[in-house]
Amino acid sequence: MKTEETNKWNPQEYNKHTSFVSALALPVVDLLAPKDGEKILDAGCGDGTLAVEIEKRGAKVIGVDMSSEMIEACRNRGVEAYISSVTELKYENEFDAVFSNAMLHWVLDAKTAVYNISKALKPGGRFVCEFGGGNNAYALVSAMQEVFDKHDDFGKFNSPWYFPSVKEYKTLLESEGFKVEYIELIPRPTPMDDIKNWLDIFTNGVTKNLTKEQREIFVKECEEILHPKLYSDKKGWVLDYVRLRVKARL
Ligand code: BEZ
Repeated sequence: MKTEETNKWNPQEYNKHTSFVSALALPVVDLLAPKDGEKILDAGCGDGTLAVEIEKRGAKVIGVDMSSEMIEACRNRGVEAYISSVTELKYENEFDAVFSNAMLHWVLDAKTAVYNISKALKPGGRFVCEFGGGNNAYALVSAMQEVFDKHDDFGKFNSPWYFPSVKEYKTLLESEGFKVEYIELIPRPTPMDDIKNWLDIFTNGVTKNLTKEQREIFVKECEEILHPKLYSDKKGWVLDYVRLRVKARL
């Protein structure tokens, strides 16, 4: 969500390998508990799978996402959607709730994101989200760091992800006027068909300055480091995800 490179999502490719992202998020929609007639902002709506789920429960959804491909896919599902980053939202006092799944870990400027979300809400409005928190993807991120450390010519590894602890995110929400009603870190071991597909989809920003050959080395060495940690014959690849699930109210 943050950089030019990471905005280029291919909805079909993304869905083929990561349909778990929205399939596992239905409990977050339950936590949102959309009501008939409500107006809800889906921040980072992706291809609109969850927006459709929310609209089925009687609310009107407006989706925003930085990827034009995803916005097109979302509109094709009949959901009103616009290209925008959560750090550039212009809404004021407009929504009964803001919902966000699997997006906020891409936003390093979390304070601006939470400020904009609070401004978009009506008084008493709620913010329900889930994203990577705590030691999310620890093995994955450590492997990337290790590979960059090994190759001086790769430059410095800059993680584009924000994985806050409960305490850190609660403090941030409270500083922007929210009362936190629920916040929990949830370990979420997540099956993936092939680690190469995951690296292809999620690490464009990390490898944006690498040559094609360097990127091939990056993928190969990450796989070698991760295989003993995240792969078993019985379960295949299982990613070490941890989700931060939150419900807060103004
Ligand atoms: C995640 O969804 O947890 C995630 C996405 C990209 C990189 C690392 C983790």
